[in-house]
Order: sequence, then structure tokens, then C-alpha cells
Amino acid sequence: MNKLKLGVLASGRGSNLQAIIDNIESGSLSAEIAVVISDQAEAFSLERARKHGLPAIHVSAGGYKGKREEYDALLVRELRKFNVEFVVLAGFMRIITRVLVKAYPDRIMNIHPALLPSFPGLHVQKAAIEHGVKFSGCTVHFVDEGMDTGPIIIQAVVPVLDNDTEDALSARILTQEHKIFSRAIQLYAEGRLKVDGRRVLISDGTNNADAFLINP
Ligand code: GAR
Repeated sequence: MNKLKLGVLASGRGSNLQAIIDNIESGSLSAEIAVVISDQAEAFSLERARKHGLPAIHVSAGGYKGKREEYDALLVRELRKFNVEFVVLAGFMRIITRVLVKAYPDRIMNIHPALLPSFPGLHVQKAAIEHGVKFSGCTVHFVDEGMDTGPIIIQAVVPVLDNDTEDALSARILTQEHKIFSRAIQLYAEGRLKVDGRRVLISDGTNNADAFLINP
């Protein structure tokens, strides 16, 4: 059977990309990475991809200020060149427009380091500590035209400890990100996800079988 062809968009260090690569190489994720694209020339994610023999390209956003849709059209052209079927946002720090969403409807996944719909946007681990929540975590969701608003696929929960720093909480959340992102992609690759309005049903008949609570 043909493997699902992923296009990974990543702006930074790429630890989520690395987890996906590792899970593919170990056989626990049945997909292939067709291309890794970054908006940042120096992104470590590009280096990680090349180290594993994967096509990795920089698509500069310079010259596209105020022209987000045009930039996304460029991304779509690049993704299609590599026959990408499914788009993974692994720390892609740009707002996606309808141009990309419409090109890949219900075929874009994002990982977010908070329990959505709480704490959308940026610097959310710091915001969670400052707000005083007792639990935070991460969310994998399909991408729609809003910011961090699309249907939720899997969430993992971690405690927020009294002495937490932003870095400590981020690291605790990141460990879970590395697990649930690949798991969500695998569920999609197996054809087990069904989007029903805001809810994503997993084909064993539940919508929360993959949410789990992690101990400190
Ligand atoms: C991750 O924590 C991811 O959840 C977050 O950026 C980090 C990327 O780390 N994404 C967002 O905040 C998206 N709005 P990584 O480059 O090591 O995968």
C-alpha cells in the first residue's frame, strides 16, 4: 500500500519533526516525508531533514509582507511539486490563510502546546503558569481558517507544578507533543479519523480514547 506523503512545515528547532522522522524510521508511523519546508533559512529542522536524506527547502517569506495568501499559494505550489497529500505544521510560526486550508481541506494538522481552546497563540506555557491553571498540555488539531481553532484530534494533559518555570513546563509538554503528534498522523493514515462538525471521531466509536493524563 502507498504510504501517506507528508509535507512538514517547520520554522524552528524541529524536535517534533525529529519525533516524526524517528517514528517513521522505527515503523510505528506508517507515512513518508515527501518534503520539509521552512520559512526560516537557518531553521535546524532543515538540517535534521537533510541528515535523514529528506528533501528540505527554504521558502522565504521575505517580499510577502502583508501578502500572506500569496505566500501560501507559493507553499501550495511547492507542496504539490513533491506530491504532498497531507500537511503537518510542526512548529510553523506563521498564520495560515484560506489558500493553504482550501488546497488541503481537513488535511492539515497542527500541534499546539496548550489545552485548546485555552491559551491559543504564542507564549502559551508562560500564560498557563501566570493564569494559575493546575493542568496544561498539548493539542493536535485539524487546521481551519482561524488561529488554533480547528477540530481537536488528541490532547495530552500534564500537571503545572507550583515551582514551574516556562522552560520546565514547556519541556514537560514537549515530551507529550512528541508522542501524540505521530499518533494523530497514524490515526489519519489508517483512515480512522472522521470530522463531524467540531468533533473528530476516532473509528472505535469514541472521541476521547486517545486523551490521557500524564503523571509528573
Ligand atoms: C512546539 O512546542 C509546538 O507545539 C509549538 O512550537 C514548538 C516547536 O518546537 N508550536 C506552536 O506554538 C504553534 N503555534 P519544535 O520546533 O522543537 O518542534
